[in-house]
Amino acid sequence: MRKKIIAGNWKMNNDKYETKELITSINKSLEFRDDLRVIIAPSYTNLESSVTYSNQTLIEVSAQNIHQKTSGAFTGEISAPMLLSIGVNIVIVGHSERREYFNEDEILLFEKVKTAVENKMEVIFCFGEKIKERKAEKHFDIVSSQIRNVLFKLKNDDFKNIILAYEPVWAIGTGETANSNQIQEMHSHIRKLISDKYGNKLSQEVSILYGGSIKPSNANEIFSNNDVDGGLIGGASLNSDAFLNIINSI
Ligand code: PGA
Repeated sequence: MRKKIIAGNWKMNNDKYETKELITSINKSLEFRDDLRVIIAPSYTNLESSVTYSNQTLIEVSAQNIHQKTSGAFTGEISAPMLLSIGVNIVIVGHSERREYFNEDEILLFEKVKTAVENKMEVIFCFGEKIKERKAEKHFDIVSSQIRNVLFKLKNDDFKNIILAYEPVWAIGTGETANSNQIQEMHSHIRKLISDKYGNKLSQEVSILYGGSIKPSNANEIFSNNDVDGGLIGGASLNSDAFLNIINSI
């Protein structure tokens, strides 16, 4: 049975002190559950301390980015072995903000995913259509090609390290959420796509998260959909009460 996952993407928020405060206050009320994984993705400078603060708790720590090479002359970049050496073995790849503001294309995303899984890291792979694409009813095609062009180059064994996150771009940070029908039909489309490529067993084991303006008031309904295995939460993960409330909704 696949586990539920609630992941908080902190983006470029929280300094050293705010990081400690937020993790401490989440931990105070976070009860252990063996059907659930809770992941947070703080900024690079706070990853190592976050691993320390989260020791012996339910919280796991993820990076928000990774370089596609494992070492070399790439000023300012961070590699998989560096992350592993501080106890971080999860990374977010393909977030729409990285695609949009840092021009990360599918060739690069595949290299990043490949390097991560070769180094035994888990990847939270994000994808989703833009509003224009949904209005033109191209959302299923877009999502299919985003998955095919990057993930379907992976071997069965590597695919086991993938967590999928469907994040319609028009719902990220906008306050607008996809409705339950839109979410469930896309998640079931994704699971079928995985099943056709990697077989039913793997498709039943992969976690498919939804992301895009999840908040305490809509979390319950979103998580009640069969093929939704959790959420990737941005804004609402920066507040411990809201994040805990979302965790308790699953
Ligand atoms: P949001 O962000 O919850 O603030 O919409 C989600 C994300 O970017 O992963």
